[in-house]
Amino acid sequence: DVGEDAGNLLEAVTGRHRFAENFEAETLGWSRDHLGPTLRMRRGRTARLTARNRLDSPITAHWHGLHVPGWQDGGPQSLIAPGQELEQRLDIDQPAGTFWYHSHPHGRTGYQVYRGLAGMLLIEDDDKASNNLPLNYGVDDIPLIIQDKSFSSRGTLEYDDDGMAAMQGFRGDRIAVNGALAPKARVPQGLVRFRLLNASNSRVYALRFNDNRSFHQIGSDAGLLPAPVERRKLQLAPAERAEIVVDFSEGAAARLVSEDVPLEMMGGMMGGGMMSGMMGGSSGPATREGVFRVLDIEVDRSRTGAITALPQELLGAHLPTFDEPVRRRRFQLNMMMGMGMMRGIFGGRPKLGINGKTYDMDRIDQQVRLGETEVWQITADMMSHPFHVHGTSFQVLSQNGRPVEFGEIGMKDVVWVENSAEILVRFDKPAIADAPFMYHCHILEHEDSGMMGQFTVG
Ligand code: C2O
Ligand code: CU
Ligand code: CU
Repeated sequence: DVGEDAGNLLEAVTGRHRFAENFEAETLGWSRDHLGPTLRMRRGRTARLTARNRLDSPITAHWHGLHVPGWQDGGPQSLIAPGQELEQRLDIDQPAGTFWYHSHPHGRTGYQVYRGLAGMLLIEDDDKASNNLPLNYGVDDIPLIIQDKSFSSRGTLEYDDDGMAAMQGFRGDRIAVNGALAPKARVPQGLVRFRLLNASNSRVYALRFNDNRSFHQIGSDAGLLPAPVERRKLQLAPAERAEIVVDFSEGAAARLVSEDVPLEMMGGMMGGGMMSGMMGGSSGPATREGVFRVLDIEVDRSRTGAITALPQELLGAHLPTFDEPVRRRRFQLNMMMGMGMMRGIFGGRPKLGINGKTYDMDRIDQQVRLGETEVWQITADMMSHPFHVHGTSFQVLSQNGRPVEFGEIGMKDVVWVENSAEILVRFDKPAIADAPFMYHCHILEHEDSGMMGQFTVG
């Protein structure tokens, strides 16, 4: 719990972490050898945290999804130099949900998050529905931080953010959940909530159970859905979250698996064949069955869950309210930046961008007015991208020209852009030029290669 009086210290440190037997590697973590503690914050309260940097390169502490002003957001401008620390007071002013925190220094985010500078952050509130769901942390409310890793034979984590790896996004060939390969969970007999966070640099997951059982999605990036949605499969792009509730009342074990989702170079109209040709059309390694094992779940028949039925309505009073949009902005995510892309093809760090410009810390790309509703239209070239916006949550209006039902995906801060997407967005927290908000592709190698822009709100 991070409360007023609990000044929490998050120390970025190096460590050696055991992912599984024979899989130990040098890692990074927040106050531990790998990843960080789950931070729990309460709506209406102020969370106090100190982020300290014990590494030899700069970090930041970004609260992904939190509605806080730019100077508390921990974007690339808010660098914490080696040996330094930064105290933050976060006024928590949004509905309950599953969020996360990670380091965000420009050009190094991919490296640092891959090694482990990430953790989960939960917001709780007093809403009736939020408290009629499985809420017993670690028992029937289980956080799952999903990442992919590659291990060398020397027992180090392999990572590459140059050349083709940067263009396609780096993908590892093993799935780690909360820092463990092929982990097992024991759950009580009854309803169990899983909070899924895709904290991978670029891998997209299509999650399902091996017995194809159905489950209910109850939340997405920024909180609960209006009502539970029954599914058998769930796609999760980098930085997206989903909360699901699975019924284990019959006592049968299950395995959560992911089908391999190729990050094809075909989001855009053009160049599909050309790009997949050049890049070997790779979809990254998968297991022999073509699916990744994510989590084995066993039911402990001696315990029963506290919650026996899902509420029919979830979001209740927290349905978003937007005014008529007063402005439309366009964002084109560019792989094609003239010679910039060629640098990637020839093995260097490519130069990617948005609206024809690669990220520049000294340039403000947009100025947004506080409290005004806008429509943002995002288009992708050559491949699909998860587009993320700091400082707020938004509603997705359409994807690839087709309208999106709010009830299906709820409030978001990441939208999967295959060809195009439109979002309805409003900022209620300010950001000044010295500490602007970011919008970027959350494929971290794209972000680090410049597919990012920044904006003020005032
Ligand atoms: Cu998950 Cu700009 O962040
Ligand atoms: Cu963010
Ligand atoms: Cu991208």
